[in-house]
This record gives sequence, structure tokens and C-alpha cells, in this order.
Amino acid sequence: MYTPFVLLVCLHSPSVQGQVSIAALDLSAVEQEWGEPHADRSVEGHALSIGGKSFEHGLGTHASSQFAIALGGQATRFHALVGADDETLPKQGSIEFRVLGDGKELWKSGLLHSGAAAKEVDLPLAGVKSLLLLVEDGGDGNSYDHADWAMATIEAEAGATIQSLAAPREEAVVLTPLPGPEPHLHAASVTGVRPGHPFLYGIPATGDRPMRFSAENLPEGLTLDAATGRISGKLAEKGEYKVILTAKNARGTDERLLRIVCGAQIALTPPLGWNSWNCFAGAVDDAKVRSAADAMVASGLAQHGWTYINIDDCWEAGRDAKGNILCNEKFPDMQALGDYIHSKGLRFGIYSSPGRTTCAGFTASWEHEEQDAQTWASWGVDYVKYDWCSYDDIAKDHSLPELKKPYSVMRAALDKAPRDIVFSLCQYGMGDVWQWGAEVGGNCWRTTGDITDTWGSMAGIGFAQNGHEKFAGPGHWNDPDMLVVGKVGWGNLHPTKLTPNEQYTHISLWCLLCSPLLIGCDMAQLDAFTLNLLTNDEVLEVSQDPLGIQAARVAQNGETEVWAKKMEDGSLAVGLFNRGQIEAQVSVNWKELGLQGAQRVRDLWRQKDLGVSEGSFATSVARHGAALIRIFPAKKR
Ligand code: GAL
Repeated sequence: MYTPFVLLVCLHSPSVQGQVSIAALDLSAVEQEWGEPHADRSVEGHALSIGGKSFEHGLGTHASSQFAIALGGQATRFHALVGADDETLPKQGSIEFRVLGDGKELWKSGLLHSGAAAKEVDLPLAGVKSLLLLVEDGGDGNSYDHADWAMATIEAEAGATIQSLAAPREEAVVLTPLPGPEPHLHAASVTGVRPGHPFLYGIPATGDRPMRFSAENLPEGLTLDAATGRISGKLAEKGEYKVILTAKNARGTDERLLRIVCGAQIALTPPLGWNSWNCFAGAVDDAKVRSAADAMVASGLAQHGWTYINIDDCWEAGRDAKGNILCNEKFPDMQALGDYIHSKGLRFGIYSSPGRTTCAGFTASWEHEEQDAQTWASWGVDYVKYDWCSYDDIAKDHSLPELKKPYSVMRAALDKAPRDIVFSLCQYGMGDVWQWGAEVGGNCWRTTGDITDTWGSMAGIGFAQNGHEKFAGPGHWNDPDMLVVGKVGWGNLHPTKLTPNEQYTHISLWCLLCSPLLIGCDMAQLDAFTLNLLTNDEVLEVSQDPLGIQAARVAQNGETEVWAKKMEDGSLAVGLFNRGQIEAQVSVNWKELGLQGAQRVRDLWRQKDLGVSEGSFATSVARHGAALIRIFPAKKR
């Protein structure tokens, strides 16, 4: 369905007589997820060796990899011995080799493990114009997937030109229609607050300004600024308040129910916001954080429910004589920064660690937990990410009580602060944190190590989340790490290395997973494609559904997967993913989804109905791409 517009470029290579080793072609065209391709050597630079046997020639690569070769219809045979290189331990790697001619599959190896003997491929190529050599990761991530195309040769007619083809480039296609001028209210239909704590909620609405807001049944203690649409104040009593929000402009009116639940729980839907780490890392400063807040509003993201502006590591600078945490020179007045963020109707987040130092080596909260929680509250902090790092010097071991301790201590400290502060645990999944993150009072917990902007990292993390769904729910979420779309780079900015289709996969999957969504790019440099990815209200609704059910995998077929989650209205949000390297048909049948009969299918990225389907749904999905659909019983919306 999301067939990309692709550009193919031939790379220079000499014409051949008779037979050419693929390792003699221009290997800059090889795309692979780890390391560099090597001629006649393995990916780590050793002599090629498969199942104890060495080979003189061939290509050493790493899954997932692809190598496209132009044959000009003049080649006659392809021959190779393929397998996982012996430089990894037996069984460590699991890979599958595939050979495609003119887009059609000619051969596949089946699953091969390191230690196994090489498998022979011998194919006639008469009339074939292009060859695509693929190595897939075997469906279990790409760890240790060192892959050799040993003795791989192409036979051709005398004088034939055999050339590498640069990997296809996808055009960034904007799929979602832009919001119209008439008012539309968006975002979660529920929000939580604790009694007696400050409440700040900017009503998310798109449409032409000026816009006037009103709120019917607003409980005592809260007031609405009709011009900005900001609700603020405090609620004294626990309870659930059903408020009818209205937004009105010259083009019309929109109305929507917001449930304000005053009780013990906050983060009733996954937090939506921005964090400084993936773009700025140690280069974060006050001006950059303000510019992120400015862009959150100016770009329109806030109108779709994006709220938090979070500083990650690298703001701290020791303590004063009384033990109060100090900010470094890049943050001259943290309270003023908090006020600035709040003045835009947004919320403010910060970072610390339970050890003596943070991961980047700055002062952390060890033995100052309560004092820090109070300081943060005085600055107006609404979100704390609490890392692990140097706590290894303090913890006796990684037993469960030791893993839990620092988080329980900070939880107790935050509970004494006079504000609602989202508590985000960041210890990379140690001790299966998803099983106890909620018990220690975490509102979310990282389930993995740090993400980077590669397919291997993003897909490896995202698709490994299956099984965690039973631990997520309103107030407590699995966190597979922050988003890597837009300009990212950890202090050295570059456009994300994810292709456009990989980015559709990233956002579709993270919404299905009910992950906190923290934009990781420089917000001042948002481009139209990235903004479009982040402002599709029907896609965000999958993340923000009040039931808070995290999607699980319902089907897997080779490189394709289907994930589904139930929505509050009884419909299903379904992601159809293609982890493979060529376009594939992905299908789901109603049985796998627990459905039967006629169902109405809607394409969420395009915000377009696809008609009624009986029994199953299938669509073509681009390499590394996704289709995100919602399935409703046919007769009612
Ligand atoms: C890591 C954490 C990153 C970032 C970094 C800051 O441990 O996973 O997301 O917060 O520390 O130093």
C-alpha cells in the first residue's frame, strides 16, 4: 500500500568477461545494519569461514543487508555458498539468504545458524536485468548475524556490464491530510490529577485562530482562560468530573467530553512530549529548551496534545552548602525556565539518577532524594526521568530488592512534593522491570537500552516488546525509549537515518505499544514530513485511548507481523508490518483478531475508509513499512 517512489542509481564497475566475483563490484552499494561489507573477508575482517570450511573469495556482510546488482540481461548464472561466518559462536547467529531477480524471489536459503555448513545456490539468470541479494535477520533481531556470500560469482556473456546499484532511496511521502480551518478538539478524553495539586491543561484544538473555548461542568477550583483554552487551578476532592469542552471560531464549533479524574493516579494515557537527549545530549541549554517549547506551540504540535518539555541529563552542577542541587551555567534560572514552559500551557520535565553521579557524570540524587524532589517541585517540575548508572557503585547486586530500592526511595520523596510529577524509571529493563515498575510507583519504565536512529535499533527494540502488554495500563506504561524521527544526533544533528517507511513503522508501533511518546529531534528544525508524522490525530488516538491496552502480536509470517489492540469504542487498532527488505503482502484474518463477519476498515495514516471486508484484510506493505488500520463493526462507527 505504501509503495515508495524509489530512485535507482548505477555505480561504476568494469565490464566483465565470463565470470565476476560479486566482491569485485563496488561494495559501497551494500546496505547493512552493522559493520562494513568486506571483499573476501568476513564483516569483522577475518578470512571467510562457514561450518569450519574456509573460502578464498566472497562478500562478508551482516544482517539485515541488501546488495542490488544490474545485470543488463546479459548474465547467465549466479553461484554461491552461503552461511553464517564462524567468527561467532555456534547457534549465536540466525540468518536467511534470499536472491531476487527483477523483484521476484528466485531462491531462499531457509534459516541458517552459525556453525552450520554452507548452503549452495546455483541459479540460471537468462534475461534477468537486476539481482537483489538479501540477508534477513531470521526474525529474532540481528545480533551475531555475520553473513557470508562465499565464492559468489556471476557468469555473463563476454563484454557484459555488471554493476552495483545504489540502494533505493525512498521519497518522504506525506500521507496525512493537514488539519482544516474549522475547530477540532483532540487528544485523550481523560486526564488525571491528585487532590490539592496544581492542574494545568491546555485544551488541544486545531483550526483557525482566534478561537474561543468554553468548559461546561468545570468543577470548583478550576478555571478556564477562554482565549488560550488553558484550564488551571486545584481540585480539593477526589472524584470524576465530566467536562464538556467547546472550541469555536469563525468557521464553526466542536465539542468533546473530557473526564478529569481526581485521585491517586496520573499519566492515565501515555505522556506526549519532547526530551533533549536524542538531539542535544550534553549540548542542551536553557535557550534550546525554550526553543523546543516555542516550537511545540508554533508548529501546532501542542494542538494535538503534545505537552511535556523534558530536560535530560547535563543540567546539574554540584550542591550548595545546604546540599541543594545546583544548575550549571547553561541553566541560569531553572524556575524561570519552568515558568516559561508553563506559560505556554506545557509541562516541564527533568532528569536525575539515584547514584552519586548521572550517566553523563554530573551530580545525582544519592542521599538527597527528598531534597531534590522538593527543589524540582519548587521549579515547577511535572516529570522526572530517573536513571540508574552509578547506582551500581551503591547497589550490592542486581537482585530484585536492590533493583527496586532506589526507585521506591524516590517515589516516596516525590509523594511528599506538592505537585503531580510523572515518575519515569530508566534502568534499561533490568530484572524485568515491567513486572514490578508499577509496584514501585513508576508511571513508566524503560524496557530496553538506548535507541538509535537505525532500523536495527528501532525495529529490534519495538518488535521485542511482545509479551509486555499485560504490565501496561492507565498510569503505568512500558517505555521502549524515545522517538528518533526528525533531526536527531546526540549533540551532532543529522536527519534521522530511518527511511520514511521505517518512520511510519516507528510511530505506528510506538502508538500501538502505548509507549510514552517523547520526540527526540531538534524541534526548531521540524520539517513538514516529521510534523505530519506526529500530528495525525487518528494515529495518536491509538496511543491515547483511555482503556490503555497495549498491543500484542497476533500473527507472524516470515518477515511480516500483525499487532492489534482493543480501543474503548470496541474497535481494533491493527498494525500490519513488513520487516523484510522488499515489498510484501501482509494479511490478517478476522479469526486472529477474534472478529467475524463484515468489518469496516479505515486507513489511519491516510484518514480514509477502505471499505468493508469480510473475513480478512490484506494489503501490500513497503520494505520496513507499516499500514495502520482501525477495524469497526460494519454497521456502526
Ligand atoms: C542513559 C539513558 C539515556 C539518557 C542518558 C543520559 O542511561 O538511557 O536515555 O538519559 O543516560 O546520560
